[in-house]
Amino acid sequence: MTTILSRRVASVRPPMTREMTRLGNELARAGRSIMSLAQGEPDFDTPKHVREAGKAAIDTGGTRYTDVPGTRELTAAIIRKFERDNGLAFRPEQITIGVGSKQVLYNALQATVDPGDEVVVAVPAWVSYPEMVRLAEGVPVIVPATIETGFKVTPAQLERAITPKTKWLMLNSPSNPSGAVYSAEELKALAAVLAKHPHAWFMSDDIYEKILYTGEPFPTMAKVVPEMASRCLTINGVSKAFAMTGWRCGYGAGPAELIRGINLVQGQSVSHTSSVTQAAAVAALDGPMDFLPPFVAAYRRRRDLVVAAMRGIEGVECMVPDGAFYVFPNCEALLGRRTPEGKIVATDIDLCMYFLEEAGVALVPGSAFELPGHFRISYAASDAALEEGMRRLSDACARLARAA
Ligand SMILES: Cc1ncc(COP(=O)(O)O)c(C=O)c1O
Repeated sequence: MTTILSRRVASVRPPMTREMTRLGNELARAGRSIMSLAQGEPDFDTPKHVREAGKAAIDTGGTRYTDVPGTRELTAAIIRKFERDNGLAFRPEQITIGVGSKQVLYNALQATVDPGDEVVVAVPAWVSYPEMVRLAEGVPVIVPATIETGFKVTPAQLERAITPKTKWLMLNSPSNPSGAVYSAEELKALAAVLAKHPHAWFMSDDIYEKILYTGEPFPTMAKVVPEMASRCLTINGVSKAFAMTGWRCGYGAGPAELIRGINLVQGQSVSHTSSVTQAAAVAALDGPMDFLPPFVAAYRRRRDLVVAAMRGIEGVECMVPDGAFYVFPNCEALLGRRTPEGKIVATDIDLCMYFLEEAGVALVPGSAFELPGHFRISYAASDAALEEGMRRLSDACARLARAA
């Protein structure tokens, strides 16, 4: 059969995170009680002063095209943010602003990856990384980081993964889906490997920077290893810290030549993110941050609730994550068991479908993040939903019988 679709697009999978949320919503619309713990989105509102800044932009003519890399005001606010929070100094030509940090990641790969180039992706990784690499006709080189190493890749693994074709190592810390946080020492150890391979660049996805429980300052590669700054793209955004997922604003900072390439891709595709969003993002980055500690404290309390519940389930192994709002338990010991209806739960996908259909809890299987044998719970949800969700998961696991 002929198809209108390109080979490039035919190889891409839709995000399973969205699919599980959609299935959960469908069951909820049909009248089922569903605890939706699949979506990676803060459950609080965008702070009021940020919403007001967006409304003011609408009312005062801030509704026109902006420059492709973003407005001067937001670029300046981003430069101040990097100085204040990360001790990093950038010039305006080193900043790009995208339609969410997702767009910056996408643009960066489009701007740098030629067909057959390799991108090392430490997994479990956010669902979009390997697919974005494929859309750029690159080859994702999957490096599995398991629970034994706290879901972090080791320098030895990185060394083995790098070839003359490597363009990037993509790393996300705090991590979606594991919640793992790389320490400054761990970043230095990875940089020591990259130092031997100067053609390999480092993409630092810092989107969960503010959702951190270590009590330590947040370490980012360009700051921890200044020699890496000349081949590092540091990516961040307002979605997670400021509960602005729907506004769509992320940004990247790095060498001017790279940013110029990213802006070329952007200029011929989306042009820029909404002018209204950019005005709101200035208010977010320059404004008070006192709303954040109570949210981080709430996330931490919910993390502890979920981890305690998971650790109470026979067959589930669970690490305490240091950041983000996800828990990523290992469920390999449950695989091969039988549901009360007699179906064998062979994979993490089967298990998540069983949790959804029989227990009414929407989660995302580890396979979506390239690490089967796990599932992801998003605890960016109310305490009540989490308590009920954990009770249902625990009951559902207890009902799984060992195969005879
Ligand atoms: C690891 C990671 N990076 C990037 C993003 C994209 O965020 P946004 O495009 O809203 O800035 C997400 C969103 O879930 C994420 O989990």
